[in-house]
Amino acid sequence: MSIKDIRLFGDPVLRTPAIEVVDFDKELRQLVSDLTDTMMDAPGAGLAAPQIGVGLRVFTYFVDGELGHLINPTLDLSEELQDGEEGCLSFPGIYFDTPRSLSVVAKGFDQYGEPVTLEGSELMARCIQHETDHLDGVLFIDRMDREQRKHAMKAIRDAAWAGQQGPVVKVSPHPTFGKGL
Ligand code: NI
Repeated sequence: MSIKDIRLFGDPVLRTPAIEVVDFDKELRQLVSDLTDTMMDAPGAGLAAPQIGVGLRVFTYFVDGELGHLINPTLDLSEELQDGEEGCLSFPGIYFDTPRSLSVVAKGFDQYGEPVTLEGSELMARCIQHETDHLDGVLFIDRMDREQRKHAMKAIRDAAWAGQQGPVVKVSPHPTFGKGL
């Protein structure tokens, strides 16, 4: 087990676009393992490599009992949208309605470099979009409408963890009911 510190909003690594994985080697498989352990420990429904300070295009997910990972994802999004509450492990305790595409087809690779297609709707689609955004330095607050973002930014300012710099020892103030991403 290797549980890493989850970076919190305010850490510049969360705003830095991650780079494509080129080497599908032992280090990559260690990263997938670290992401998986850290996500399950949080607990969360998804975790992207930048959230543990690694600037590579890799994320893990655990949605509806399905555990997996995706590397170098490209997304095909449905026009039909969903609304619903969303959270993020880098914003402990913050949950707000965030519009997303209802379904998604994601293409990418597994940790051995084999092509993978991942299809999902509802929470799975939300997770894939949220994690792929992390790889582009995009955060869920960017996807909220103006009103929700205003409420979210106030909640963030009021949060106990706000203003902490750099890596912070594991913060997991309450169960995330599988919604932390
Ligand atoms: Ni997140």
